[in-house]
Amino acid sequence: MNVLIIGSGAREHAIAWKLSQSEYCEQVFVAPGNAGTAAFGTTAAVNIHDFNELAKFATDFNIMMLVVGQENALVEGIHDFFQSSEYLKHILVVGPKKAGAMLEGSKDFCKEFLQKYNIPTAAYKTFTEATFREAVDYVRNHTFPVVIKADGLAAGKGVIIAQNFEEAVDALEDLLRNKRFGNASSKVVIEEYLQGIEVSVFILTDGKEYVLLPEAKDYKRIGEGDTGLNTGGMGAISPVPFADEAFMQKVKERVIEPTLRGMQEEQLDYTGFLFIGLIRVNGEPMVIEFNVRLGDPETEAILPRIKSDLFELFRALHDHKLGEFKLEVDPRTAATVFLVSGGYPEGFEKGKEISGLEQVAADVMVFHAGTVLENGKLLSNGGRVIAVTALADTREEALAKANAAAETITWKGRYYRHDLGFDLKNIPA
Ligand code: AMP
Ligand code: GLY
Repeated sequence: MNVLIIGSGAREHAIAWKLSQSEYCEQVFVAPGNAGTAAFGTTAAVNIHDFNELAKFATDFNIMMLVVGQENALVEGIHDFFQSSEYLKHILVVGPKKAGAMLEGSKDFCKEFLQKYNIPTAAYKTFTEATFREAVDYVRNHTFPVVIKADGLAAGKGVIIAQNFEEAVDALEDLLRNKRFGNASSKVVIEEYLQGIEVSVFILTDGKEYVLLPEAKDYKRIGEGDTGLNTGGMGAISPVPFADEAFMQKVKERVIEPTLRGMQEEQLDYTGFLFIGLIRVNGEPMVIEFNVRLGDPETEAILPRIKSDLFELFRALHDHKLGEFKLEVDPRTAATVFLVSGGYPEGFEKGKEISGLEQVAADVMVFHAGTVLENGKLLSNGGRVIAVTALADTREEALAKANAAAETITWKGRYYRHDLGFDLKNIPA
């Protein structure tokens, strides 16, 4: 079978790498892909926001499975589009329809869902430009810090943690009045700040049955010790030691099961990944967010730990056989370190020649994100450029191997964090 993956990051590279190992997978296409995904087959030169173009590609290349790596296409309704076409509806889509994708596409929708199904989450209230005054009054009486979130998709930049009343009002002005994220910030969710350690939990589900994938912890801040600006992710570690059996049992009972009940009651007709962003507060899991896709950089750490055939897992999703699917997981630890351009997440330069890839140890995986091949040269082409993943028996060894690979790959200005896992050293269970 031929598969088309949508996206251009290291996550999609990892998905392409994993799927191409399946004997059932003939050709893997990635749209728009990057210099790394090109190694797995043809890069599909199509505009991923133009569903008609994607449809033509899918028919021309006899695509039987569409794996949607990133959220935008899902929120824009790519699954609904494929299903409504006579020529495309036989294609197995991994990723929910628009109704389900709203769990990520609207924070307000997500919070209402969480509340309705009694899933633990921070207390919240939603406001619009018309209720701006009420929003200001609400934060005036709130404890600080307070969390203010743009309702819609904002590429991970729509969350502001305001430390005091002035910062909160500035954020509200910026989002609601100045429409910093356009329509995505015509509504805001204001919620209670939760103090704790985060973990990303993933399931693949058809809305009834599910397979629990390995969990991961990602590192979002640019600076060592989790300081400085937020990024698209500086690395990830899987497994996460505090997500032990007792904690995961609570996650299953209090989060996953009521979520599946809610998906059914709301008729979301969900088929795809659900990324459950959790924070552990006093030993209890609380939901920070849902995403309707795999995480980046978490995918680069969790897929190398999955021994089962990913294609077979996707087929089980469509055959409604996830309940009997036995996922085989490598017990070793995976550490992923992201190499980024100097200056990122603020201004940075692209087009720097990348060297040292050939010296990376053979058992370290290299996943491309912002790279491009030009005249045979590999150049940086974005903020986050390359992710490296190493597996080892201990977290320390995995990190040492990944850090050694990160040191080997270089270009002018490249930066990476050397301290991943620092927060897991003395975490009480
Ligand atoms: P989100 O886009 O909702 O995942 O938020 C991005 C990041 O903001 C999360 O990964 C957390 O680090 C932080 N965050 C979001 N909501 C809260 C909250 N209620 N309390 C504390 N931190 C939060
Ligand atoms: N790692 C966070 C995300 O993929 O949204």
